[in-house]
Amino acid sequence: MNHEQVRIHTGRRSGLPVIIAVHSTARGQAVGGCRLKTFPHWKDALDDALRLAAAMTDKAALAGLPHGGGKTVIASDGPLSGERRRAALRDVGDAVEGFGGLYATGPDSGTSPTDMNVIAERTAHVFCRPPENGGSGDSSPATAVGALAAIRAVAHDLGRADLNGVRCTLLGAGAVGTPLARLLVKAGATLAITDVDDGKKALADELGAGWLAPDEAPWAETDILVPAALGGLLGPDTVGRLRCAAVAGPANNQLTDDTVADLLHGRGILFAPDVIVSAGGIIHGLGAELYRETPEQIDVRLAGIGDTLAEVLATARHDGVPPLRVARDLARARTLAPVTEG
Ligand code: PHE
Repeated sequence: MNHEQVRIHTGRRSGLPVIIAVHSTARGQAVGGCRLKTFPHWKDALDDALRLAAAMTDKAALAGLPHGGGKTVIASDGPLSGERRRAALRDVGDAVEGFGGLYATGPDSGTSPTDMNVIAERTAHVFCRPPENGGSGDSSPATAVGALAAIRAVAHDLGRADLNGVRCTLLGAGAVGTPLARLLVKAGATLAITDVDDGKKALADELGAGWLAPDEAPWAETDILVPAALGGLLGPDTVGRLRCAAVAGPANNQLTDDTVADLLHGRGILFAPDVIVSAGGIIHGLGAELYRETPEQIDVRLAGIGDTLAEVLATARHDGVPPLRVARDLARARTLAPVTEG
């Protein structure tokens, strides 16, 4: 472990474990969303927090933001609603406030902009409150825009001029996956969708996209596999089942560990590092709220995700190494060097 700080709180109000991992503040304030999920044991939530926080450090560095990485995980014992949800979120607010501004949170899997309002009752260090409450709101559409720029860069690397007729399989039609599905279809991709909620089949129908069962979709033949839900999809025992040319999606921590990138590379499957693909959320949230950037400036930064990925893919191709290794090296160099870029 090389995290700067990890704090495990038992929520005063909720009684639930609230874990905050701050991986690095070398480039500036650590940022990372608040995940709310049911875990069999709080130690599993700790593992998640540690890995997700470290990924946020690379994500911020590769996005050129003067920030480090952190993450909050509420280890729930089941779905949270009403007063119990409010209690847990206020516990998070106290825990975030305890870092005195060294770490700021935002929405993540399981939490929403309105949840950020509750956290804000206890701390000012929270992004993405609804616009009517002075925040930048849902960052998911921006994450989708950034992911599309990345997927375009991948298509170019595969020798395609654009996304016209490129087969994409989208895994997960949630907050990010749904706008991404629309963007992919608009860009001309031939799309297939899956989701654990089969009510999302309506989206596939609406978009003229195919629908696949959740247990079949990852292994169906396609050009680009687009993970857009929870991570950990690709491990040593699943890489062999893939039938795609590339994996590029906004889900955090798609690989069970970095060695899986070598396995993908060995199979000739191009893996676009998720720490680059998924940066649209922080680019939007921080750009709008901290740096007062205009929507046009933010759009330029989101498009920059495609440029960063293209450079990483070109270097990886030239050196014959997995793109993830190039991305990690670049992130490390930026995390160790003093921050000079804005
Ligand atoms: N969920 C976002 C991510 O994983 C976290 C975030 C978005 C934090 C926007 C702050 C602002 O990147």
